[in-house]
Amino acid sequence: MAKDYTKYFVKPSIKDARKRKSTDTATIDFNEYFTIKGFGKGKTYKIETFGCQGNEADTEKIRGILEALDFTESEKLEHADLILLNTCAIRENAENRVFGELGRLKKYKRNNPELILGVCGCMPQEEKVVDHILKKIPHVDLVFGTHNIYKLPEYLETVILSKERVIEVFSEEGSIIENMPKIRESTRKAWVSIMYGCDEFCTYCIVPYTRGKERSRDKDHIIHEIKELIKLGYKEVTLLGQNVNSYGRDFTDKKYTFSNLLEELNTLEIERIRFTTSHPKDFDLETVKVLAKKGNLMPYIHLPVQSGSNEVLKKMNRKYTKEDYLELVANIYKYIPNASLTTDIIVGFPGETDEQFEETLDLVRKCRFEGAYTFVFSAREGTPAAKFEDNMSLDEKKQRLYKLNKIVNDGYQVGTNRFEGKIVKVLVDGVSKNNDSIIAGYTENNKLVNFKGDKSLIGTIVEVEVTEAKTWHMIGKLVE
Ligand code: 5AD
Ligand code: SF4
Repeated sequence: MAKDYTKYFVKPSIKDARKRKSTDTATIDFNEYFTIKGFGKGKTYKIETFGCQGNEADTEKIRGILEALDFTESEKLEHADLILLNTCAIRENAENRVFGELGRLKKYKRNNPELILGVCGCMPQEEKVVDHILKKIPHVDLVFGTHNIYKLPEYLETVILSKERVIEVFSEEGSIIENMPKIRESTRKAWVSIMYGCDEFCTYCIVPYTRGKERSRDKDHIIHEIKELIKLGYKEVTLLGQNVNSYGRDFTDKKYTFSNLLEELNTLEIERIRFTTSHPKDFDLETVKVLAKKGNLMPYIHLPVQSGSNEVLKKMNRKYTKEDYLELVANIYKYIPNASLTTDIIVGFPGETDEQFEETLDLVRKCRFEGAYTFVFSAREGTPAAKFEDNMSLDEKKQRLYKLNKIVNDGYQVGTNRFEGKIVKVLVDGVSKNNDSIIAGYTENNKLVNFKGDKSLIGTIVEVEVTEAKTWHMIGKLVE
């Protein structure tokens, strides 16, 4: 449908994305940009979101912008006038899924040449992805990245009204944009970004290139957002950042840390506060001690370890040792005895030996993880680890993953077993898919519980006695 771009054509560069400037990040009010209204009237949209909570939070902003332009959400993908894929670049299979979906959507475009198809999120931040779209996927009309969501009204105006193709991806992050409209997925649980970007440069990871320099939001903006959520009846917020423990490190005018933020949020009238993701190197004892005060701070910590071998951790540029990690875990259990810990682990990192892999298994046993996301290393172009010598076959790596997952699954089971016979607090999310007299929700320790109950309990926190521990969830009985 669209002609070739005339107004917007900016491609990203991984080389530029690697640069870090020491200048302070400015904060801009979205309303300064937002002038165009109404041209979405009568048109519908659908967004498909891939990847992490950061992308889910971005999708809520994109929906907010679209609905401010008078678009409405389409029930079905095939009826939408605008389809956006909000993509993830973390591993190759995540990218392949998106390319597969773009192939599948071609037929919708054939049926409806007026359909606008857009790609946004982390994948467009990669030069090679944009080049591939330019060469091979002509049915994509709109490409933008993670740093310019706020310009979506302009882009859509160009694509819809001028019928021009838009490709604009900035390598540099730019300012923090406050007050973007949002349509949240849930009316009870909310994502609240406390910072954007990442400065860690773990050697395997593409995120510092796709999400830019680390920028912390002003704490007053965070607190204001949470207070507004409380007024709307929200019960739970999850603070988001690639490394929440380094929150505030970029402030030049004040000292204000993640533990300071948690302490302040602990005084607010919101029932539950969670956060993700933590970096072991920056998870300090003050934070552990603040979490020990409990109140609305949930006893659940996702603490990616990645490997149990010091040599591998060094090659990954994780900047902590196995011993540092074990000490942190010991402190967490000492101050928060009831805590549930989960982690992320990569197997088959280039050069990982049998012994080094065994060290990971050993660490997993020692830490009593109650869950883990486990991955086979995936080489990401532009990251240092993509150039490391890697002789191991994918088959061998998958065997390691299988072995690791067996131990991880035992951890899940131990993690639910320990609640059998206990009374837990559950924030009720909804009705079970298979049986609408069964409702379900998550405990403070982030365990899923199914139990008999009335739909009217959705959105409230109730007490439930755990009667049976399964591996991935628990079954309970409402305490009346
Ligand atoms: N290959 C495999 N796993 C990766 N992760 C990040 N980059 C890669 C990669 N190149 C994993 C890490 C991280 C999680 C979000 O994804 O474990 O914590
Ligand atoms: Fe990637 Fe490491 Fe940053 Fe996490 S801390 S986003 S693994 S570079």
